[in-house]
Amino acid sequence: MILEAAIKRFFLFLSQNYSMNRAAKKWGLRYGASRFVAGETIREAISKVKELNAQGLTCTLDHLGEFVRSRREAIESADYCIKTLDAIHQAGVDSNLSLKLTQLGLDIDTVMCHENMRRILERAKQYGNFVRIDMEDYSHCQQTLNMLHELRKEYDNVGTVIQAYLYRSESDVKALRGVPLRLVKGAYKESSKVAYPDKKDVDDNYKRIIKQHLLSRSYTAVATHDEHIIDYTKRVVLKHRIPHTHFEFQMLYGIRTQLQLSLAREGYKMRVYVPYGNDWYAYFMRRLAERPANVAFVLKGMVTK
Ligand code: FDA
Repeated sequence: MILEAAIKRFFLFLSQNYSMNRAAKKWGLRYGASRFVAGETIREAISKVKELNAQGLTCTLDHLGEFVRSRREAIESADYCIKTLDAIHQAGVDSNLSLKLTQLGLDIDTVMCHENMRRILERAKQYGNFVRIDMEDYSHCQQTLNMLHELRKEYDNVGTVIQAYLYRSESDVKALRGVPLRLVKGAYKESSKVAYPDKKDVDDNYKRIIKQHLLSRSYTAVATHDEHIIDYTKRVVLKHRIPHTHFEFQMLYGIRTQLQLSLAREGYKMRVYVPYGNDWYAYFMRRLAERPANVAFVLKGMVTK
C-alpha cells in the first residue's frame, strides 16, 4: 500500500515536469505510450476511431496539449481542436471533442481563452457536435466552471467534468443541473484541504453525485473503469427507469477494452476517450500513476527497445 502510494506520487510528480514533457515531444510515442495514445497525427487517430466505431463504441477525441505558455501556442492548440472537428466531420465518424482550457491559454489570458473556446464551439455547432471541457487540477477548477457558465449563455453544445474526490463536487453538480456532465473520480494530486484523501470516501461521493445528476434528469457520462461503480449506475438507472438516451459510460483508450465492448453489447452507450498528438508525456504519466501495475509493462518496453 505504502509502495503503491509512493509510486503514484512519483508518477504524478513526473507528469508535472516541463522539461521532460518538451523532450518527449521529439521522441515519438515511447515506452508503451501507444497503448494509451492513439497516434501522433489526426489521420492515425481518425483511423483508430473508425475501428472503435465499427465495434459499436462511440468516441471523444482529445488533441493532447499540456504546459502551453505562449499566446501563439494557445491559438495553435485551438486551431488543432478545430482541425480535429473538421476531420471528424469529413470522415463521418462518431466522435465528439474533449479539450483542456489551459491548452487554450487559461493561464495566459482568460479573454483569449474564451475567444478560442468560442471559435471551437462555433465550428462544433456547424457540425452539430459537442465539446467537453476536461477538468484539470484544483487550482483551475473555479476558473473552468466560470468559463463554462459564460459559454453556456451562448452555446448548449458544451459541458464539463466534475471530480468526485473534491469536497465541493456535490454542490457543483447541484449548481450544474441540466448541464451535460462527465463524472470522474479525479486524476490529480490534491491536498486533503480540498479533496477526500481516502479512496472509500471518493467512491461513496462518486456514487452520490452519479445518482444526483441522473435523478435530476441531466445527461450524465459516468467515466470510470471501476466495475462496482458501473454496476451501481446500472442499478440506479434500472430502479428509476432512466432511459439509455440520458446517460453513457466512458473509458479511456486502451484500458479495460473487453469491458468496453461488453457494455456496448449489452446496449449501453459506451464512449472511448481517444487522446492523440505528440504531447503524450503528462497524460501517459497520469495513467501510470493510476495503476502501478502498468509500470511493469513500461519497464518491459524500455528493456526491449
Ligand atoms: P479506479 O482508479 O478505482 O480503477 C478501477 C479499476 O480500473 C482498476 O482496478 C483497474 O482495473 C482499472 N484501471 C484504472 N485506471 C487504470 C489504468 N490507468 N490502467 C489500467 N487499468 C486501470 N480525471 C480528471 O481529473 N479530469 C478529467 O477531465 C478526466 N477525464 C476522464 C475521462 C474519461 C473518459 C475517463 C475514463 C477518466 C477521466 N479522468 C479524468 C480520470 C479519472 O479521474 C480517474 O483518474 C481514472 O478514470 C481512474 O479511476 P477509475 O474511476 O477508473 O477507478
